Amino acid sequence: MTHRLELKNISKSFGEVKSLQNITMHVDQNEVVGLLGDNGAGKSTLIKIITGYHQPDTGELFFNGQKVNHLTVPKARELGVETVYQERALADQQTLWRNIFLGRELRNRFGFLDVNKMVEETNRLMIESMGFTSGAVAADSVIKNFSGGEKQGVAIVRALYFKADLIVLDEPTMGLSLQETRKLIEFVKGIKRAGKSAIFIDHNVFHVYSVADRVIVLDRGTVAGEFLTKDITLNDLTEKMYHVAETGHLD
Ligand SMILES: Nc1ncnc2c1ncn2[C@@H]1O[C@H](COP(=O)(O)OP(=O)(O)OP(=O)(O)O)[C@@H](O)[C@H]1O
Ligand SMILES: [Mg+2]
Repeated sequence: MTHRLELKNISKSFGEVKSLQNITMHVDQNEVVGLLGDNGAGKSTLIKIITGYHQPDTGELFFNGQKVNHLTVPKARELGVETVYQERALADQQTLWRNIFLGRELRNRFGFLDVNKMVEETNRLMIESMGFTSGAVAADSVIKNFSGGEKQGVAIVRALYFKADLIVLDEPTMGLSLQETRKLIEFVKGIKRAGKSAIFIDHNVFHVYSVADRVIVLDRGTVAGEFLTKDITLNDLTEKMYHVAETGHLD
């Protein structure tokens, strides 16, 4: 079976700092992979390579079995990869519908922005994909008044609408309330149910454990190990994380 995404021996340095060293990993179709690791382990650097934001120094990237030589952000999008950050990616002063279609506006046959269509689609998406029926979250409302969880929801809806099937979430629960966090975890489970793939990064082992099929542990730029969540208890995984933090290895 070809992997949805495969990395072979990916390395990346920033000056003297070896952020990633010989990372080999994969993500399958319809698989949620959790990335765990302490601050500075290289998680964000890794996803920035996957999303075309950084170029690796060495190593190879494959999408659906095809090697991609010079991955850029637009190219990664074309390949179905979308990233959900906390808030950052949304334009706060803009309306919900503008945020959904930012950079990929719908146009009518005369080439003009099709505002009606975008508003209509936004309302449909918010109800169908997110179950948002609150009047505060209408197509015309301005994003800056949304809660953190609602903002995350917008980013996820956008990713799904544009047919992304590998969704990368880098610490999406940061700053969210408990209830919003629970909703976010449900979105990620929805990605899985929809047959798509995800890479989920979070400092909270419990969050990662509850959504991931497989967990990859990074330590100081290298893969320290990986587990299928069905083969390990949350308790054991937590213990192992402490152990890695203390000793730099899993066993
Ligand atoms: N643009 C950059 N320039 C210089 N050094 C960088 C850059 N990006 C990352 N680094 C360094 O690479 C290492 C890995 O950073 P990275 O952000 O990938 O870690 P992380 O696992 O995402 O950490 P955190 O959990 O704190 O988000 C760190 O030592 C960091 O300082
Ligand atoms: Mg990070």
